Amino acid sequence: MAQDPAPVAPDALRHGMRRLAAGVTIITTLDGGAPNGLTATAVTSLTVTPPHLLVCVNRTAAAHAAIGRSGRFCVNALAQEHRELAARFAGAGGIHGSERFAAGTWTTLATGAPVLVDALAAFDCTVANAVDVATHSIFIGLVVALSARDDGAALLYEAGSFGRLTRDD
Ligand SMILES: Cc1cc2nc3c(=O)[nH]c(=O)nc-3n(C[C@H](O)[C@H](O)[C@H](O)COP(=O)(O)O)c2cc1C
Repeated sequence: MAQDPAPVAPDALRHGMRRLAAGVTIITTLDGGAPNGLTATAVTSLTVTPPHLLVCVNRTAAAHAAIGRSGRFCVNALAQEHRELAARFAGAGGIHGSERFAAGTWTTLATGAPVLVDALAAFDCTVANAVDVATHSIFIGLVVALSARDDGAALLYEAGSFGRLTRDD
């Protein structure tokens, strides 16, 4: 029987993934009364019935253990005006943990995880399942509350830069 092909090298994967444009989010959680969060693009819808989405979080991220312990998280879809917030929640300025929430206006929906008031959409979730895959965990969230705006332009990330969608119509 033919051998399975070997996986591509990490650098080749990184090079390819840089070209996969994605919407930028901030994933938040509330663990023992302390908020935590990180910027993330590894977010996707999963099922509509029941309402599930999934996020992929590095095990080294402070929010990883916090999501695991609390069993809740909120995915906040960012708009163009959230570029600085996206950088802040990705570690810019060495700002960590609850200090990150000193910027932006935050509220809560059902779980207590921070919800960005002017997010394009916020998906408040309880953790339905978690799967560890090497360096990351996939957290599958059951969406228990949601808010969404009809205006605003999505913040995208591609080839190491933030950008915007140009519409054809
Ligand atoms: C555009 C962008 C997308 C990112 N996407 C993810 C992601 O999907 N999952 C993840 O674990 N980290 C992602 N990161 C990295 C985290 O935001 C970053 O490592 C953050 O500082 C982790 O939080 P910590 O400093 O509390 O550990 C992304 C960073 C950027 C700038």
